[in-house]
Amino acid sequence: MTDSSTFLKQFARHPRTVGAVAPSGAGLAADITAAVPRTGEPVVVELGPGTGVFTGAVQRRLAGRGHHLALEINPRFAARVARRYPDVEVLLADAATLGDLLADRGHARADVVISGLPWAAFGADRQRRVLGAVADAVGEGGAFTTFAYLHARWTPPARRFRRLLDETFDEVTTGRTVWANLPPALVYHCRRPLR
Ligand SMILES: C[S@@+](CC[C@H](N)C(=O)[O-])C[C@H]1O[C@@H](n2cnc3c(N)ncnc32)[C@H](O)[C@@H]1O
Repeated sequence: MTDSSTFLKQFARHPRTVGAVAPSGAGLAADITAAVPRTGEPVVVELGPGTGVFTGAVQRRLAGRGHHLALEINPRFAARVARRYPDVEVLLADAATLGDLLADRGHARADVVISGLPWAAFGADRQRRVLGAVADAVGEGGAFTTFAYLHARWTPPARRFRRLLDETFDEVTTGRTVWANLPPALVYHCRRPLR
C-alpha cells in the first residue's frame, strides 16, 4: 500500500490523532527540518512521524550522526517508519512522555524537537501538556519547529495553539507559506522556553 493510501486509511479510522488526509510534501519537510544541525552529534526528537516524510529529511541531514528518536502513537505508522528507517529509534509512544523517554536514554535535553502533530485537533489541556513537555526537552539551547495549515490558522484551536507558542517561547518566528504543500502550510520556529 502506498504512503498516501495508508495515510488516508488511518485518517478515516483515527481522524482526531492523524488530523490530515495526506502526508506532508518535500518542501514542508525541508523547512521544518532546517534546524537540525549539519555538524556534531545532535539529539533530534520527532513527534508524530506518520508515514515518515520528515523522518527521511532528518535522516538525510544527519547522514549517520547523532540520535534520532521518533514518537508515534499509531502502531501502523510506527511499524512502517521503523521498517523504512532502521537508524531511527521509533517508539510507539505519546508525545507527552517525551521527557521520560529522553531521560531513559541518558539525554538531559534534545537539540531539536520537530513536530508533525495535529495541534489544531487537540483540546486545550492536551496542547498545554505536550507543549510543556517539548519546552522542558529543548531547554535554553534547543530549537522546536512545528507547522500549521494555512486554511485552518484562524480556527479557535489553531489560534489558541499560536497564543500558547508565544506564552511558552521567547522567540517564535513564522516561516514562508509552502504553497506546494497539500494543503498549503507554514512552519513556526521556536527557541528559548520562558520557564
Ligand atoms: C498530521 S499527521 C503528520 C504526519 C507526518 N509528520 C507528515 O507531516 O506527513 C499527525 C501524526 O501525529 C501522530 N500523533 C497524533 N497524536 C500523537 C501523540 N499524542 N503522540 C505521538 N504521535 C501522535 C499521528 O498518529 C500522525 O502520525
